[in-house]
Amino acid sequence: MEELSPNRAELDPIEIASIDEIRALQLERLKWSVRHAYDNVAMYRARFDAAGVHPDDLQSLSDLAKFPFTYKNDLRDNYPFGLFAVPREEIMRIHASSGTTGKATVVGYTARDIENWADLVARSLRASGLRKGDMVHVAYGYGLFTGGLGAHYGVERLGATVIPMSGGQTEKQVGLITDFKPDGIMVTPSYMLNILEQYHKVGLDPRESSIKVGVFGAEPWTDAMRKEVEDAFDMHAVDIYGLSEIMGPGVANECVETKDGPVIWEDHFLPEIIDPVTGDVLPDGEMGELVFTTLTKEGLPMIRYRTRDLTRLMPGTARSMRRMEKITGRSDDMIILRGVNVFPSQIEEQVLATGGLAPYYQIELFKSGRMDAMRVHVEAMPDAADNLSKTAAARMLTKRIKDMVGVSTEIIVGEPGEVERSQGKARRVVDNRGKE
Ligand code: DLL
Repeated sequence: MEELSPNRAELDPIEIASIDEIRALQLERLKWSVRHAYDNVAMYRARFDAAGVHPDDLQSLSDLAKFPFTYKNDLRDNYPFGLFAVPREEIMRIHASSGTTGKATVVGYTARDIENWADLVARSLRASGLRKGDMVHVAYGYGLFTGGLGAHYGVERLGATVIPMSGGQTEKQVGLITDFKPDGIMVTPSYMLNILEQYHKVGLDPRESSIKVGVFGAEPWTDAMRKEVEDAFDMHAVDIYGLSEIMGPGVANECVETKDGPVIWEDHFLPEIIDPVTGDVLPDGEMGELVFTTLTKEGLPMIRYRTRDLTRLMPGTARSMRRMEKITGRSDDMIILRGVNVFPSQIEEQVLATGGLAPYYQIELFKSGRMDAMRVHVEAMPDAADNLSKTAAARMLTKRIKDMVGVSTEIIVGEPGEVERSQGKARRVVDNRGKE
């Protein structure tokens, strides 16, 4: 792998400012943001009043803990534009996520929000090891999803050439990558595996591809997956994190020189980690639910937004700003099996560590009598698809999951190609409880 590290002179000064400078800027911006929300969004005014707090009560960063949380349901309850803090005419762009249940959550950006977003994605790409003059293939979906357009404007802002491929048409993806020879790719890690499979199908060596860096996010992925993809393509794989409600891709991004968890761009977003049950703020280093407050967003300010993502905050390394640990999972994705908490990422680690299995998997939940049970669908590597190898792999994976995760599972090792392929965000869990 080619060694990549950014030119420090090209970083935004705030990325390497002192912690004191960063905290001072955050406090100034936080005061503005909380007041902006209170003055311009009826829900915030009612919530703050009901909780007996006022923007004037915010004198230090820790005062934020006095303010109430905001939830995904608040966006649904105020569908479509009820949480916008500026007149609709000042909103320059709308995005929305369909979610798995209920109404879409709708988000809006002013011209300045869009500017900031492009800056932060450009900063994220620099952290990933890409630079002006490079070419970047964007395979995140374009449209209402923030992935495609969010990535797109960041690549342009960096001064790189953007290929707005969007998701799907896997054959064409590989054709364009081969012909255009981009330096970077932005795509979900699970869809990158589709692209990998296509390389093998057409007999191309992925290690010969021009791609030096993949900027992967929009779904949880493990370090085991990082290694899998880095080895397959002989490239760097870095983690980009974000969510529509807070902005989209580029809320946090890993640095290629350390690959030790996404750096949160703290000049625009203030993170907290809370105990998801009590709501208490936890000290840095402790595991809990990530909560964000936007510091500069005009269109849709978010005060203490509960992301449902589980992680911990860690001190800065390559940058002064804090990092988050690679996301283990969302509290929504946690499976409770006979009292044991299981995340799909834990299963992923074990699948990737088992010889003879391809890196595709899907977890099925079902009822076995009155008990919940779990079945993991995986598939054999083409060169290990005989019955003997499949049985051995199934036995090995069953044991690994039992030993490492602590639950009993049924393993189905299918033929190559049998597990559902991701077209964007992978569907890791299929819940068939109540359907049998
Ligand atoms: O997925 C924004 C995005 C696009 C991020 C492209 C990165 C790249 P939503 O559709 O609103 O926005 O989904 C946000 O996806 O709360 C996490 O649960 C999950 N997620 C996003 N990035 C990561 C990541 C986009 N790097 C939700 N690791 C978030 C783990 C991630 N989970």
